[in-house]
Amino acid sequence: MQIGPHLLPNRLFVAPMAGVTDRPFRQLCRRLGAGYAVSEMVTSRKELWNSLKTSRRADHSGEPGPIAVQIAGTDAAMLAEAAVHNIERGAQIIDINMGCPAKKVCNKWAGSALMRNEALALEIAEAVVAVCAPRGVPVTLKMRTGWSADERNALRLARLFEAAGIAMLTIHGRTREQGYKGLAEYDTIAAVKAALAIPVVANGDIDSPEKARDVLAYTGADALMIGRAAQGRPWIFREVTHFLATGEHLAAPTVAEARDWFTEHLHDHYGLYGELSGMRSARKHIGWAVRGLPGGEAFRQHMNTLEHCQAQLQALRDWFDELGQTHDRLPPAAAANDDQVPADEAGVA
Ligand SMILES: Cc1cc2nc3c(=O)[nH]c(=O)nc-3n(C[C@H](O)[C@H](O)[C@H](O)COP(=O)(O)O)c2cc1C
Repeated sequence: MQIGPHLLPNRLFVAPMAGVTDRPFRQLCRRLGAGYAVSEMVTSRKELWNSLKTSRRADHSGEPGPIAVQIAGTDAAMLAEAAVHNIERGAQIIDINMGCPAKKVCNKWAGSALMRNEALALEIAEAVVAVCAPRGVPVTLKMRTGWSADERNALRLARLFEAAGIAMLTIHGRTREQGYKGLAEYDTIAAVKAALAIPVVANGDIDSPEKARDVLAYTGADALMIGRAAQGRPWIFREVTHFLATGEHLAAPTVAEARDWFTEHLHDHYGLYGELSGMRSARKHIGWAVRGLPGGEAFRQHMNTLEHCQAQLQALRDWFDELGQTHDRLPPAAAANDDQVPADEAGVA
């Protein structure tokens, strides 16, 4: 699997998730088997580039390459400028966001809303490719299947994007109208894959090794992208890799392994955000880590009352140690309600 000149170790990608896939989380996923990770989106609004939030998002120190930065906006010239800005700060691949259902930039709908305006979508792709190509930086694009069930135009747009020089397309198998509701469909992704020569990545609702195998087979996609199923379960990437290679399930991680991975993740997380802000934003990751496990919900509620990162870290370690008294390996998580709305997507990056 290759994006422009960048050879990837495998074809399992962690999806960009604003407020989730920061550098510490991307590194954790890469360590546990993801072959590629796209950073959270960065706005094309120049006045926000120096904000703390955007500069944290642009922090790639120690991250394995290729460094891929996702940009979002509605104006072709501004997006081209944002691409150059990020390349100058180390981006090796630029990804254009035409997938978010709720992204407003400069009071205009960006993200998947662009799919409704094909001329503007194409203008953006061409403008970004025009500044990236001379710098040797491939441009990729992430989109949905269309605006609504009646306007499923991913195939038409995909052909235009390929002709415009886009190097890889990721398709989330939902329309914009669906938001995160309903089920992802893979027929549109299969049709796009069949029509294009560039790599196509299938995304949406891939949450198990079997589902990964089935989506790969059904769509013929070159790679898979996994988002929500990696929250609190970043080892899903190595589980899928193992299953695709052998047809057998990898044993669940030991409780001690999970404890140590989450400990390391928290240290990295506090390092990026600082102790106070890091302690707060780590809560969601810890909540996902214990979700569906015996006693996990009670622990999550208790952990949310802790106000110091040292106490938070120790509580997490103690909780896993206690679980380790009765379980050598992580027990299967009970089904959790995953119908979350990615609130952070609505905010400006
Ligand atoms: C919390 C959250 C934040 C997201 N942020 C982004 C984003 O910044 N850019 C983007 O292209 N997609 C974003 N997405 C969409 C995911 O990349 C992915 O397309 C979607 O979650 C479907 O994949 P999944 O079923 O594996 O989660 C986000 C999704 C979630 C849940």
